[in-house]
Amino acid sequence: MAVRGDVQIVIIGSGISGISAACKLVNAGFQNVRILEATSRSGGRIKTAKLGNNIAEIGASYIHGPSEENPLFGLAQDYGLLDPEAASPENQAMDIDERPPWVPNFFSSSGQRLNAEEMNPALELYNELMDDTVPLGNVKESPWPSVGHFLRSEARKRAAERWRDKDITTQEQLLCAVSAMLKGECCASATHTMENIDLMGFCMYKSLPGLDCTFPGGFEGLVKNLMLELPADLVSYNRPVRCVHWNNTQSRVKAVTVECDDGERIAADHVIVTVPLGYLKKNHSTMFSPPLPAHKLNSVHKLGFGTCNKVFVEFESPWWDDGCEIIYLVWNDEKDIVDQVSDIKKSWIRKMSTFTVLKGSDGHVLCGWIAGHEAEHMETLTEQQLKHSVTGLFRTFTGDSSITPKRILRTQWFSDPWTCGSYCYPAIGCSAKDLENMMEPLPTSESQSQALQVLFAGEATHPFFYSTVHGALLTGRREADRLINHYSSFSSRRQPYSERTNKRT
Ligand SMILES: Cc1cc2nc3c(=O)[nH]c(=O)nc-3n(C[C@H](O)[C@H](O)[C@H](O)COP(=O)(O)OP(=O)(O)OC[C@H]3O[C@@H](n4cnc5c(N)ncnc54)[C@H](O)[C@@H]3O)c2cc1C
Ligand SMILES: *[C@@H]1O[C@H](CO)[C@@H](O)[C@H](O)[C@H]1NC(C)=O
Ligand SMILES: *[C@@H]1O[C@H](CO)[C@@H](O)[C@H](O)[C@H]1NC(C)=O
Repeated sequence: MAVRGDVQIVIIGSGISGISAACKLVNAGFQNVRILEATSRSGGRIKTAKLGNNIAEIGASYIHGPSEENPLFGLAQDYGLLDPEAASPENQAMDIDERPPWVPNFFSSSGQRLNAEEMNPALELYNELMDDTVPLGNVKESPWPSVGHFLRSEARKRAAERWRDKDITTQEQLLCAVSAMLKGECCASATHTMENIDLMGFCMYKSLPGLDCTFPGGFEGLVKNLMLELPADLVSYNRPVRCVHWNNTQSRVKAVTVECDDGERIAADHVIVTVPLGYLKKNHSTMFSPPLPAHKLNSVHKLGFGTCNKVFVEFESPWWDDGCEIIYLVWNDEKDIVDQVSDIKKSWIRKMSTFTVLKGSDGHVLCGWIAGHEAEHMETLTEQQLKHSVTGLFRTFTGDSSITPKRILRTQWFSDPWTCGSYCYPAIGCSAKDLENMMEPLPTSESQSQALQVLFAGEATHPFFYSTVHGALLTGRREADRLINHYSSFSSRRQPYSERTNKRT
């Protein structure tokens, strides 16, 4: 009978899901756990950079729903990584559905600042529509094919009813502002257009209470702290895995062989795969031998995985209000409520309609959000081209032809060969079944000694916290628990659950 000390476990990927799985397994007494990571660092889509003296999060920036139920919030608090304000009971109690009540400024493409009070009805209408998607998750047959269809048609309808007493210019401006918000929404779902998002699928996502907060010292501080809990040599860096050979049926051979890109072959009893869905979509055919079963593969194809990028822009001095937290750029020819541009090469920059003001930055830094094919195109530009376009954008909206960004930094998640995009979304036709298929271990039915050869964790395997850090973290723990329970069920007398053996910190 296997003893935990002998069990060989390989984890593919050193993002938050892989690290969380390793922590749990090591603490439960498994001594042969290793992580193979393609790149030279841990953290994956948690990655902190600097722009001048300011923190710039290349990947995740917010703890979504920082409150008691959120395990990420718990860890961040334990490690002392949060501002006291972020951890306050008032902040934890705020139920805002991940839509922080940020103080907005609006600028128009005619080069004028718009009166925030006058634009407020657009924000109100938009938030109301988002709230109204929630009950639609329970209807049997939705009259709208997608979240985008719902938002656009309802926005037009309600706007016509309630804004009819306003003058036509104001009405049109409000509709244009709704376009800016819809483009911003594409970033939250990492999608090209909200018309790609399944309305019922959208409602699978659960938000937690709490006012979204950031890590003042950078998100990567969390990863650094977690790594200190693990033996120093547990992660092998620059070790891409090429193929997972499973279902080895010869006796006295481990069930799985992991083949690295450098040719090394590592025998394992269990492998936890945490590679991003974007990578899996591209590489599944060479990554598994035998191939993934058809129903799992079908879900890999069906679930969406898209791009959301950020463009950090630093200015000599702010041209927005003191206390402003978000800037909407309102194009005055977008009253039809649009979230995609017609000519990507020429006008991709229109997609970048919302800028958040970085808190605690000693410079004056904005973070522009851009999603979809426009974001993918942005990645291909040279620094010069990007600077030229971004400078033009701010000159247009401020009406100040001398305004010049001091520094610019962009993310390029679509071109990242180990991620191939940003995070997953419920594409049209997706259901809870697809996320279930994603997390189902291989083989799907087998005798116990052959069970749990390949397990799956990562952001895109969580049934309702997909696309988040806390979701990814929970999936790593879930798969570790699956193995812990497996061994507890038939060798609990030999190996006490609480054994902590190789903690070397
Ligand atoms: C721009 C952006 C903004 C975001 N903002 C937020 C936010 O504010 N809040 C939030 O909660 N979430 C946010 N997210 C999502 C969050 O970052 C992810 O959901 C989470 O970090 C994913 O963790 P993971 O372990 O599933 O995957 P990853 O962190 O991607 O880890 C997977 C690892 O596998 C490695 N790998 C890939 N292929 C191989 C291979 N063949 N062999 C070996 N290793 C391989 C990769 O290099 C990577 O290190 C954001 C993501 C992006 C991109
Ligand atoms: C993943 O797929 C891409 C595109 O097919 C290919 O170029 C790359 O070599 C694959 N990666 C690995 C590690 O096999
Ligand atoms: C696993 O191996 C067994 C025995 O050789 C075989 O019958 C079965 O079809 C294999 N499963 C897969 C998914 O290839």
